Amino acid sequence: MKRLAIVLAAGQGKRMKSKLYKVLHPVCGKPMVGHVLDAVNKVNCERSVVVVGHGAEAVRSYLGTTAEYVLQEQQLGTGHAVKQAKALLGGEEGTTVVVCGDTPLVTPETLEALFALHEEQGAAVTVLTASMDNPQGYGRVIRGADSAVQRIVEQKDCSPEEDAVKEINTGTYCFDNAKLFAALEKVTNQNAQQEYYLTDVVGILVAEGEKACAHMTKDTEESIGVNDRVALSEAESFMRRRIVKKHMLGGVTIIDPSSTYIGADVEIGADTVIYPGTTISGKTVIGEECIIGPHSEIEDCILRDKVTVKHSVLCQAEAGSETTIGPFAYLRPGAKLGEHVKIGDFVEIKNATLDDGSKVSHLSYVGDALVGKNVNIGCGAITVNYDGYNKSITEIGDDAFVGSNVNLVAPVKIGRGAYVVAGSTITHNVPDSDLAIARQRQENKPGYADKIRARAKAKKEREQQS
Ligand code: UD1
Ligand code: CA
Repeated sequence: MKRLAIVLAAGQGKRMKSKLYKVLHPVCGKPMVGHVLDAVNKVNCERSVVVVGHGAEAVRSYLGTTAEYVLQEQQLGTGHAVKQAKALLGGEEGTTVVVCGDTPLVTPETLEALFALHEEQGAAVTVLTASMDNPQGYGRVIRGADSAVQRIVEQKDCSPEEDAVKEINTGTYCFDNAKLFAALEKVTNQNAQQEYYLTDVVGILVAEGEKACAHMTKDTEESIGVNDRVALSEAESFMRRRIVKKHMLGGVTIIDPSSTYIGADVEIGADTVIYPGTTISGKTVIGEECIIGPHSEIEDCILRDKVTVKHSVLCQAEAGSETTIGPFAYLRPGAKLGEHVKIGDFVEIKNATLDDGSKVSHLSYVGDALVGKNVNIGCGAITVNYDGYNKSITEIGDDAFVGSNVNLVAPVKIGRGAYVVAGSTITHNVPDSDLAIARQRQENKPGYADKIRARAKAKKEREQQS
C-alpha cells in the first residue's frame, strides 16, 4: 500500500508566547517539526506534505526540499489544515499518516506499528492513542460498549463523563486517503472553539459504517504535544534521555546522564567517555575513545579518536586524533588542530590551523594563523591579528619555537625552525632557522634595589606623620 504523510505545522502556537513559530522551537537543538519529519521520512512515505501558515517561509526554509508544502492561509482548525493538502494528495490512493508538528517525540517504530495495524485491520482510520493519568488538554477517545473506537471529543467539548476518560488522542493517525478527504467535506465548526476539527473525521467515518481502530502506545512520553513552554521542557527532558540512552547502547560511557546534554544529530564513537556537565550540540561528530568533559560545551565540532577535552568551550572547531584540549580552553570557529596537538589552559584559538604535534600550553591567543608541525608557542605568547579594521595572518613554520610572552604582530612569518626569544615583539618576518630577539637589553644597577626600598619607606613614614 502506498504511504503518504501530512504534517500539520501552520499554527502560531499562541500558548508558547513567543516570536518564534511553535513548530520551530527546538527540542534537543532541533526544531520540533524537524523531529516529526525525520520520523515520517524513516517509514518510507512516498510523498510528505507539510501544511504551513504562520511562519510559512521560516518553516519551509528550515525543512527545504525534504517535503512538499501547502499553505493554510487562515488557521481554522486541524481538519481545515489537512483539507489544504487535497490539491496535492486528493487523487492518491493509499494510507495517509497525519502527524502534528508539535509532537516531536513520535518515533518511526510507532508510526510503523500504526501503519501495520491499520493495514492489517483494513481500517478507514487508526488513531494513535495513549493512556494518561492527567489527560488535560488532549482530545479524549470515546469507545462504545464493544470497546470499538466511536469518536474523539476535544476537552473543551467534553461532557463530565467524557472528561474523565484517560485514553487520549496523540494527534497521529493513519487514514485511507480517499476516505479522509471525502469525510473532511462533512466536518463543520459547530463546537466550543469554532474550528474544523480533524478529530471529527473519526466519528463521521464510524457513522458511515467504516472501521476505526486505535493503537495505544505504551510509551506515553512519546505522545506529548507541546503547546506551551512547560510541555516544551518536558519534551526536552524525554528527548534528552532518549538520546543519551541511544549513545550508551551504542557503546559510549556517560557518567551522569542527568547532567549530560547531547543534541539530536550528534554522533559519538564507542568507548568515548562523557563526564558530567557536558553539552554537545549541532552537527558534532566525536570519534572513539575520547574523553569529554567534565563541564565542556562542544557545538558543531569534529573530533577524531582519542581526543581529550576538559572544562573547555569549542565551537566549529576540529581536532585530530590524540589531541588534548583544556582545561579552560576556548576553540572558536575555524580552529583546526592536527594530531597530537596540545592546547592548554586559558588558550583561545580562532580561525587558525595548528598542524600535528604543535603545543600551545598556556595563556595564549592564536587567531588568523597557520601554524606548522611541532611548533611550541610559549606561555602568554599571542598573535596580534587586528588593527581595529583589518585581520592579518601569522604564519609559523614547522619546528619553530616561540618563547613566552611574545607578540607576533601580523602580517608576519616565522620561518621553519626559527627561534623567537621570550618577551619579543615581532614586527618583521623571521627567516628559517634564525633567532629573533626584539626587546630591550637588560641592564643591572648594583645595589639599587635597596636604595629604592629605603626611599619608598621614607615616603610612607612622612605621609603617616603628616
Ligand atoms: C490536537 C487534537 C487533540 C489531540 C492533540 C494532541 C484536534 C482538533 N485536536 O489538539 O485531539 O489530543 O492535538 O497533541 O485536532 N494546526 C494547523 N492549522 C490549524 C490548527 C492547527 O496547522 O488551523 C497545527 C498546529 O500547528 C499543530 C497541530 O496542528 O502543530 C495541532 O494543533 P493544536 O492547536 O496544537 O491542537 P491541540 O489543541 O493540541
Ligand atoms: Ca498541540
